[in-house]
Amino acid sequence: MIGKLFNATKPTEAKAPAEAAGPKHVAIIMDGNGRWAQKKGKIRTFGHKAGVDSVRAVVRFARQNNIESLTLFAFSSENWKRPEEEVSVLMELFNLVLNSEAKKLNKNGVRLKVIGDVNGFDAKLVEKIHKVEEMTKDNSELVLNIAANYGGRWDIVNAAKQLAAQVKTGEVKEADINEELFNSFTSTAELPELDLLIRTGGEHRISNFLLWQCAYAELYFTDVLWPDFNEDVFQQAVDDFKVRQRRFGLTGEQVVKADG
Ligand code: FPP
Repeated sequence: MIGKLFNATKPTEAKAPAEAAGPKHVAIIMDGNGRWAQKKGKIRTFGHKAGVDSVRAVVRFARQNNIESLTLFAFSSENWKRPEEEVSVLMELFNLVLNSEAKKLNKNGVRLKVIGDVNGFDAKLVEKIHKVEEMTKDNSELVLNIAANYGGRWDIVNAAKQLAAQVKTGEVKEADINEELFNSFTSTAELPELDLLIRTGGEHRISNFLLWQCAYAELYFTDVLWPDFNEDVFQQAVDDFKVRQRRFGLTGEQVVKADG
């Protein structure tokens, strides 16, 4: 009886469950700067400035958590329509951040890449971007992609144009066009598949961000406004990602079987 109640035989050692894999590539729509500032009775650009601290926090978190690639939506192709003063503060901020952070990023093994139509920017800013990209190009701790003057539809159209040009010259045969080849012309060609897309600020939409890349990404929305986003909120998003079952079109049973 006692044996039945208190299993007399030595219990087989319980195996710790394998740690679920974290995301390799995370993208973030950093929304809510303006509302954060307005809540404090300040002008919108105060929120953008405060948002830079959250950028530092997520880069730190990504490095410490084996995230290989972090893509941040800093300025969309549609953001040019904002009041002139706000656009100019944002441009100033990119300049300042490139000046003040480039060495630190390099020291920490971060490779910086800007994705988007950078030709829309001031020539001096473009020169600075290229300089920092060149300086950090051999770093492999983390790829930090800043999406600037970026639009998901632009990315797809841009890839299609390059592909069409190569078909025209005969470098590529139409019959050889497939998803992998198309992907190689997109701005994220060298990066791992997008695993997790986070959007702060309470809206539930993609807003023309990584449209092609979102195909199988897990989406995570939080009401936290970008300047309040920190390592703890990032950790919550990663924990939530880890318990999701990614099926890529298979059934749940097939996935369990394949995972062994
Ligand atoms: C969206 O918030 C945020 C932006 C358009 C800009 C993001 C820029 C930064 C965080 C600053 C620096 C970034 C880098 C990478 C140097 P919003 O203004 O649309 O907020 P709202 O929805 O409350 O109006």
